[in-house]
Amino acid sequence: MGELKVLIDEQTLQNRIREMAKQIEEEYKGKTITIICILKGSVFFTVDLAKAINEDVRVEFIRVSSYGGDTVSSGEIKMKLDLKDSINGKDVIVVEDIVDTGRTLSYLMEYLKLKQPNSLKICTLLDKKERRVCEVNPDYVGFQIPDEFVVGYGLDYDEKYRNLPYIGYFENV
Ligand code: IMP
Ligand code: MG
Repeated sequence: MGELKVLIDEQTLQNRIREMAKQIEEEYKGKTITIICILKGSVFFTVDLAKAINEDVRVEFIRVSSYGGDTVSSGEIKMKLDLKDSINGKDVIVVEDIVDTGRTLSYLMEYLKLKQPNSLKICTLLDKKERRVCEVNPDYVGFQIPDEFVVGYGLDYDEKYRNLPYIGYFENV
């Protein structure tokens, strides 16, 4: 995999997350926000984002599988853990770690729309736009990143590296 390098350091990450939280806070003044955290990758981002939003925030979890133990998406999406509570009439923000091909989110958005939330937005920490196969337009984006396989802050390579406090990539040597 090569040497692990820092792409986005911890301070830069945390500053940007606070900015995103403030923007969300402004746009949802006085509303109850239902955050849907997509397990497992977006747990770390969801926690820091939710803590920085000074409004009523609820957190729900959903788990889908896309990648296997590899760096290439299989293209097949499976629901592994469904929502436990209704989102009907709720103001929902889906929180994702990274939008890559867009397959996961385009599948999820269609699925969630059927549950008739009052509003439905996407907040992603990272966006790898170059790799898009399905049209997905996130409403809140932390960082646009180049087509590199990244790890850390929730993102894994075969379940490793999730606990890094920064976003890293492997430099091929
Ligand atoms: P998509 O369906 O191709 O948009 O992929 C989204 C999912 O793939 C994310 O939620 C991640 O779990 C995973 N993924 C995509 N790119 C990366 C990466 O660079 N590192 C680690 N996981 C990734
Ligand atoms: Mg993953």
